[in-house]
Amino acid sequence: MNYSLDDSAAMEACGGALAAACPAAVMIQLHGPLGAGKTTLVRGFLRAVGVTGAIKSPTYTLVEPYAVAGRQFYHFDLYRLEDPEALEMLGFRDYLDAGSVCLIEWPEQAAGLLPAADIDVRIEVTPQGRRVNLAAGTDNGVSLLKSFKF
Ligand SMILES: Nc1ncnc2c1ncn2[C@@H]1O[C@H](COP(=O)(O)OP(=O)(O)OP(=O)(O)O)[C@@H](O)[C@H]1O
Ligand SMILES: [Mg+2]
Repeated sequence: MNYSLDDSAAMEACGGALAAACPAAVMIQLHGPLGAGKTTLVRGFLRAVGVTGAIKSPTYTLVEPYAVAGRQFYHFDLYRLEDPEALEMLGFRDYLDAGSVCLIEWPEQAAGLLPAADIDVRIEVTPQGRRVNLAAGTDNGVSLLKSFKF
């Protein structure tokens, strides 16, 4: 599925639509160059599930947890991950197993450690704005994307 998104409001709306399609556990990996709009899409997702405070990328802490309405959300930014062990220390396996929602920027930094994403979001910069591709990587992702409407 491909979408052309002209501004950051459209990017947030796309994240909100993704949240609506993901009522349960899911692991989403976001790919794209610096400044592509990954955090913008995650912000739209988290706003849509009810997060009200500031949402900025956890560039230095690597992960930011949110708890809303009995659900757990983890926003990862692995850009500054230098050592795979640091990821193990974050306990990311527990998060992935615990029925939570994990949104991971710069998953390439942890290549080989992360399992396949349920949903891969790929963002390209275009002259008009951004091109966003959504693809399922697991059976769970296939079934979730069937209800994605945008
Ligand atoms: N569809 C879009 N069209 C134009 N600009 C956009 C779009 N989506 C997001 N932006 C803008 O791009 C800039 C970078 O966005 P953002 O911080 O979300 O990128 P990022 O991929 O998370 O970057 P990083 O790799 O540094 O984490 C922001 O100013 C944002 O408003
Ligand atoms: Mg970011």
